[in-house]
Amino acid sequence: MPAFSRFTPLISSLPSTVPFVGPEALERKIGSAVKARIGANENGFGPAPSVLAAICEAAADTWKYADPENFDLKAALASHLGCRPENLAIGEGIDSLLGQIVRLVIDPGLPVVTSFGAYPTFNFHVVGHGGKLVTVPYVGDREDLGGLLDAVRRENPPLVYFANPDNPMGSWWDAGDIVAFAKALPETTLMILDEAYCETAPASSTPSIEALIDMPNVIRTRTFSKAYGMAGARVGYAITTEGTAKAFDKIRNHFGMNRVAVAAATAALKDQAYLGQVVADIKASRERIAAIATANGLNALPSATNFVAIDCGRDAAYARAIVDGLLQHGVFIRMPGVEPLNRCIRISAGKEADMRLLEEALPQVLKSL
Ligand SMILES: Cc1ncc(COP(=O)(O)O)c(C=O)c1O
Repeated sequence: MPAFSRFTPLISSLPSTVPFVGPEALERKIGSAVKARIGANENGFGPAPSVLAAICEAAADTWKYADPENFDLKAALASHLGCRPENLAIGEGIDSLLGQIVRLVIDPGLPVVTSFGAYPTFNFHVVGHGGKLVTVPYVGDREDLGGLLDAVRRENPPLVYFANPDNPMGSWWDAGDIVAFAKALPETTLMILDEAYCETAPASSTPSIEALIDMPNVIRTRTFSKAYGMAGARVGYAITTEGTAKAFDKIRNHFGMNRVAVAAATAALKDQAYLGQVVADIKASRERIAAIATANGLNALPSATNFVAIDCGRDAAYARAIVDGLLQHGVFIRMPGVEPLNRCIRISAGKEADMRLLEEALPQVLKSL
C-alpha cells in the first residue's frame, strides 16, 4: 500500500514498530478473551471507590477542556510531595513525558545511555527522535549504575535513563546510590529517574524530594498508572527544578490532558489510605506469585514493583513457550525482550482469582513443554 512520499528522512528510515503488543490485540489473534490479565503491569486491584466517585462527578463536565495549567492537580501533588507546583510538569502518563524529554534534548545522531533490556517505550522515543541508543548490560539482573556512569563519561550523552525500581526485572537500588549517581553526572547530561513503581518499593530506595530537587539535570517521572490503579486514565508527572519544568511548556500538548482523568488523579492523591491497602495487596500478590513459581520449580526474583520476574532456568525459547502456553489457558503474561533477561517471564500482581488461574495453568503448560 503506498505511503506519502515526503515524510522526513528520519521517519522514512524508521521501521514500523510498536513497543508492546496489547492484550486486546492478543485476544483478537486467539479469538477469545483473556481470563487473567496479568501481563502489562496494570493494577487489577483498581482505583479507589473515591476515585470512581470523582470520575462519575467529573463526567458531566467532559464537554470542557481540562485546565491547561493543571493548577489543581499540581497544587495537590506539590503539597503531597513537599515541593512547589512550579517543580512539576504534568503529562499523559510517563510515556508521554518520556517523549517530551527526549524531544527537549535530542538532536538526530546524539547518544542516549540506557540499560540493555530496560523500558522499551523510552527506546522507542529515542529512536523516533533520531537519537543513538548506547546500552549497558544488566549485572546480576539489576541495572548497573557503575556501568551507566562509565558509559556517560565515555559518550558525553545529553540523556541517561534509569528506572528505580526497574522494569522488566523489578530490581532496585538504595536511595543513597541513586543520589550519588546523579551527583556524579556531568551537568550537561540529563538524568531521567523513572519512578513509575516507587509507591510499591521500599522507602529506603526512593530519594527524598529535597535530595534531587535543586538539580536541573535530574527529572523524576511518576505515574498514576501503577499503584494508583489508573493506567487507562493516562496521568503522569515529572519532578524537577522550576527552570527545567518550565521547558515542558515549550513543547507539551497544552490541552492534552483528559479532564476526567485529571479529576480522578486529584481524588486518588487524597485517598492515601486506599493506596496503602493496595500496596499491601500488591505485596501479598508478589509473594503468591513467588510461591506459585517455587511450587513449579522456577525461581522468582526479588521485586519492588507490582510484578515479579521469574527465572525459568533455560533459554528465551523456553520462556516464550511458557508465555504462549499460558495465553492458551487465558492467562496473559509477558517476558523481557533481550538476553540474558529473556530467560525470565514477568507476571503482574493481581487478584486472587487471577492467581488461581495462573496456579492451575502453569503446571499444565510446563508439563506440555
Ligand atoms: C518503568 C516504566 N516507566 C513508565 C511506564 C509507563 O507509565 P505510564 O502509564 O505513566 O505511561 C511503565 C509501564 O509499564 C514502566 O514500567
